Amino acid sequence: MKILFVCLGNICRSPMAEGIMRKKIRERDLDWEVDSAGTSSWHTGEAPDKRAQLVVKKHGTDISMQRSRMFDFGDSVEFDKILVMDESNFSSVLETIGLDNEGDNVEYIMDYLYPGEKMPVPDPYFGNDGFEEVYQMLDQACDAFIEHQLLKKEVE
Ligand code: 4NP
Repeated sequence: MKILFVCLGNICRSPMAEGIMRKKIRERDLDWEVDSAGTSSWHTGEAPDKRAQLVVKKHGTDISMQRSRMFDFGDSVEFDKILVMDESNFSSVLETIGLDNEGDNVEYIMDYLYPGEKMPVPDPYFGNDGFEEVYQMLDQACDAFIEHQLLKKEVE
């Protein structure tokens, strides 16, 4: 299973999700890979936002080595699951991979906690206090994602 988290800048939400998921994969000894990307190139090559790094570190994960990169068409071929944060990410991803490719592997990460609601993970970049909330949302949604995939595997 190859998972790609996608947000706008790839310096706040998706790098946090990548770090959170990588830790869970390691703890559960799963044979999965995880990466993240942004729908913009605004921060290409940059490390995650310091505020994102701090919150994730507080919970025991170091994401300082991750670097921002832009989502591209090849990602849709390479990754089994493309997990977006909000509606704007969703439409940008579909624009890049072709609108008729909607379906299968592009999903809202929060749908794993609240199916079908397309609940956005709020963009914390312009505020100062949203990072812990984003962490908690992503942490729970990643657990739900893992449970869902493991259950599915059991049934198959
Ligand atoms: P992200 O947050 O999409 O969670 O990485 C943002 C980062 C940067 C900007 C917007 C959102 N920006 O406008 O530069």
